[in-house]
Amino acid sequence: MSFQKPKGTQDLLPGVVERWQFIEEKAREVCRRFLYREIRTPIFESTELFQRGVGETTDVVEKEMYTFLDKGDRSMTLRPEGTAGVVRAYVENKLYGDPDVTKLFYIGPMFRYEQPQAGRYRQFHQFGIEAFGATDPSLDAEVIALGYQFYEAIGLKGFTLELNSVGTPASRAAFREKLLAFLEPKREVLCKDCRSRMERNPLRVLDCKVDQQHFEGAPSLLDNLDEESAAHFEQVKAHLDAMGIAYTINPKLVRGLDYYTHTAFEFKAAGIGSIDTIGGGGRYNGLVAEIGGPDQPGIGFGIGLERVLLVLEKQGVELPAAVSPEVYFVALGEAAEAKIVTLLNEARRRGIVAEKDYGGRKMKAQLKSADRLSARYAAILGDDELARGEIVLKSLADGEQQTVPLDGLMDRLLEG
Ligand code: HAM
Repeated sequence: MSFQKPKGTQDLLPGVVERWQFIEEKAREVCRRFLYREIRTPIFESTELFQRGVGETTDVVEKEMYTFLDKGDRSMTLRPEGTAGVVRAYVENKLYGDPDVTKLFYIGPMFRYEQPQAGRYRQFHQFGIEAFGATDPSLDAEVIALGYQFYEAIGLKGFTLELNSVGTPASRAAFREKLLAFLEPKREVLCKDCRSRMERNPLRVLDCKVDQQHFEGAPSLLDNLDEESAAHFEQVKAHLDAMGIAYTINPKLVRGLDYYTHTAFEFKAAGIGSIDTIGGGGRYNGLVAEIGGPDQPGIGFGIGLERVLLVLEKQGVELPAAVSPEVYFVALGEAAEAKIVTLLNEARRRGIVAEKDYGGRKMKAQLKSADRLSARYAAILGDDELARGEIVLKSLADGEQQTVPLDGLMDRLLEG
């Protein structure tokens, strides 16, 4: 019997995992600049948290959750996104007691039962941030700027930012009626998904990929904002303009999760077939209260790391490869072999990336390994050299050899 990884998941093997480490390091570094601190929450939470937080009528909750009963008959769900869990932790741990804005980030796996394709997985990874405790539009602009700086830091090119305001629940309710009045006469020509969304979540209808030709002249959410939302949106745009962050307004952008209020945005980049959203987020001023906390506003984003890596690859951006040893120790003879074990350990203690052969192989095979690993030097020790307290250092790039005293070897290697 042979086993295979579950559909829609990936093994991240050495050789590829270095790219992950690189972008994760960049995410941490950018968060440090903005004073966002890491939070790690459980990978599963009670199912109800996502039903309430993400919204009962969203695709994520209706169709895509990995939900199971645990042995205590509690309904649990593998997190489909990061925000609900972070909000739960913010409330449960009373982080709202902090008089300053609470700024958090996370990097980790999320789970959605979707039809896998390039850029769409059942286990995928997000780098996300969440900021709580301020409605100031400069915070909206900061969140977007952080995402922007992350993409810049990893060397991504040609990405764009789409921006919208989804208003307040009250302005959305009024808009919903207008939109339904526009859609009703077209009901028969709309796709099955659209017809069902008209009942449950009409705003999502405008998001439909196949029915766009029927939406000409549809009322726009942006034209129906209340005064507060409109003013907020103007200020967010003014901050982005002042920072030199380019964006396009997309009045149809509604996002797939229910918690958004005011600012909603998506980062896009070409290169993964029909999929182009590499990150998205927005403000969610009602969510903390919805989850049982005080009336604290929040805003954040989630960036899909698989998608980011696919686009980087497509763009031919050079990413770090595997680490190569500075030195590969080659032993000839038993006494030399014993000595090399201690030299290897000493080198590593001094921070030098070092390796040796483990199979007692002939010198030629050992040198081949050193080459395969792209070692800078082979350090060759025979019993004669050992007796003289010396070792031969061979540069693998040009074959040049020199004999160095054993007690000066580490310093010599550290000199480079
Ligand atoms: P989301 O738009 O559902 O937002 O997901 C954010 C990003 O995760 C997407 O833009 C995409 O890059 C990636 N993503 C989503 N589903 C998949 C998948 N099946 N395979 C690969 N990548 C995927 C959220 O999750 C919100 N929690 C973001 C947020 C944080 N809003 C406010 N704070």
